[in-house]
Amino acid sequence: MSNDSSNIVAKNTMHALLLVLALVALAVARPVHLIVDTDIGGGGCQDVDDIAAVCIANALADNGEAELLAIVQNTAPPPCAGVISVLNHWYGRDDVPLGAYKGTGLTHSNPPLSFVDDLVANYPSPVKNSSQVPDAVSIYRQALAAAPDASVAISSIGLLTNLENLLRSGPDQYSALSGVDLVAQKVFLLVAMAGKYPTSNGGANGAECNMCGCYNGADATSAQTAASSSIYVFSHMAPTVKVLFSGGEVGVEIRTGAVLETCAEANNPCRRAFMDFKRDNPGGWAKGGRSSWDPLTILVAVRGASAAGNGVTECDDCDGTNSVTEGGNNHWVAGPPSNQTYLILHDANVAAKAIDTLLCQRPRQQAAAVLS
Ligand SMILES: *[C@@H]1O[C@H](CO)[C@@H](O)[C@H](O)[C@H]1NC(C)=O
Ligand SMILES: *[C@@H]1O[C@H](CO)[C@@H](O)[C@H](O)[C@H]1NC(C)=O
Repeated sequence: MSNDSSNIVAKNTMHALLLVLALVALAVARPVHLIVDTDIGGGGCQDVDDIAAVCIANALADNGEAELLAIVQNTAPPPCAGVISVLNHWYGRDDVPLGAYKGTGLTHSNPPLSFVDDLVANYPSPVKNSSQVPDAVSIYRQALAAAPDASVAISSIGLLTNLENLLRSGPDQYSALSGVDLVAQKVFLLVAMAGKYPTSNGGANGAECNMCGCYNGADATSAQTAASSSIYVFSHMAPTVKVLFSGGEVGVEIRTGAVLETCAEANNPCRRAFMDFKRDNPGGWAKGGRSSWDPLTILVAVRGASAAGNGVTECDDCDGTNSVTEGGNNHWVAGPPSNQTYLILHDANVAAKAIDTLLCQRPRQQAAAVLS
């Protein structure tokens, strides 16, 4: 009898100890240091899913799961940086550094989606356009230099133009390292919404958009710039940096954002952008909302590719590397193990639920963000 009860006491003590250890582990799990590189609403791959991406990046930061080190725009239209600023302001994050592509290889000949001007004109934000923010390369270099080694995840959800310029960059006021060496030292993960897997070659619509930058009325010079950036980035990335490709064939199946119509306040800018898109681009809308290439890419950058509840895993049966060629086509070349792999979709509804839940989450510390 006394033996039994002391066993029970010992067991309970052990359980309590394990619980405390689990809580401590949770408490010390550091937020993922995240940089988001987006083509939000403008350029050859303009879409509304970048809105979901930037909104859930903020929600994940509210949860303590991510720390937003910077958000940069990888296209040319000036007001797109203003959209990022509107969203960050809504979530009370005016302090996140913003940057934009300042090269000459992209034009803004094709107009942005309608939500871009709507948000910038009708919502408060400290930044209205890209002329008010530094070059994305210096924002990247400043953020990386200040971060602990191997602590940064980059979520690339647009053209690879900024990343090309970062990799090509040399020492500056922030770091004595070259761009390639700075990335190798600071970045543990690049999740790139780019390409189709195992191949885009021969696919019905050809190259995936972020790899080629060639749809939505993009001019030839801009498409050429975008494709050569993709080729450069994926052939010059340090081999020690894990590169996880989020393929077009995965995100297309995951529909999100329709829920904003009922779960969010009428003046929520994430909701407003989705409703603008639904009204003006009905062909891109389906039950559940818009395809979710970009928010999925944020989700896996922060929670891990194969985390339960993502509805995806990384391929564990695809040793090799991605080859990007002329025109932004890509194909997986089987070969020895590398630090490159790609996402496999298991359950689009599970992925959609994770994203929609974050979209519906109220900002933790909202700035005084009302329709002006
Ligand atoms: C950018 O915004 C500023 C501040 O609102 C404005 O003065 C400037 O004309 C704008 N530039 C462009 C290119 O839209
Ligand atoms: C993958 O990255 C790890 C460290 O991040 C490195 O030790 C390893 O050599 C890399 N693998 C390849 C095949 O380059």
